[in-house]
Amino acid sequence: SALWLVVPAAGQGRRMGADKPKQYLTLAGQPIMAHTLARLYQAFPEATLVLCLDSDDRWFQPEWVPFTRWQRVTGGKERMDSVLNALHAIPAQEADIVMVHDVARPCITPDDLHALYQAAASHMAGALLAMPVADTMKRANTEQQSARTEPREGLWHALTPQGFRYALLRQALESARHYQRVVTDEASAVEALGEQPLLVSGRRDNLKVTHPDDLALAAAILSAQNIQLI
Ligand code: CTP
Ligand code: MG
Repeated sequence: SALWLVVPAAGQGRRMGADKPKQYLTLAGQPIMAHTLARLYQAFPEATLVLCLDSDDRWFQPEWVPFTRWQRVTGGKERMDSVLNALHAIPAQEADIVMVHDVARPCITPDDLHALYQAAASHMAGALLAMPVADTMKRANTEQQSARTEPREGLWHALTPQGFRYALLRQALESARHYQRVVTDEASAVEALGEQPLLVSGRRDNLKVTHPDDLALAAAILSAQNIQLI
């Protein structure tokens, strides 16, 4: 069964505030994008990659792509627009499972990738990596004061990858666009169709590089994981 990997990499990295989008910043000697693609390839060398890049991208280098089968598509305004462009580039009859993974999560491990794929393939509504919330959750008032404590039970952080059957994911994102709902992950679009993707408990070090201090953290995580790439 054919696995397609969609990697949205068309973001600007505004919160990072660097001189180029965060996926092109160097981490342990390589651009973040190269780390992420290498880890995906290590887990799924037979998959086909669709990489979403900004139309004005000046930094991408094809030598960072280890896959034999891959293509680039132009990103859209929001993350979901980038992912939809990728889905439109995939021939429906050739796709079984589509896994979407943020380029900004270079610390993803082979174990988590395989676990998510297995869950996505065996659960009709798809699956996402996630982790249970550990901290006490506060609801702020408009003065940024703690107005109350939200029960933490049953709350999870949504991570990536998220994996779904091609037709379901496409229908979910088309529907979100049609109703002009901006969704920040694929699972929320699928939930809006009444489906309930499986939460797969993932590693806590699957960090999304977002703010400047995440760079040192991600470097420490990569070196602590000590994963040998082929
Ligand atoms: N992304 C994308 N197309 C967009 C917006 C985001 O492909 N129009 C991608 C980013 O490249 C990233 C992922 O979606 O891999 C998650 O987005 P985020 O972490 O928010 O990255 P940025 O949007 O680049 O960062 P920021 O929000 O700080 O500008
Ligand atoms: Mg963003």
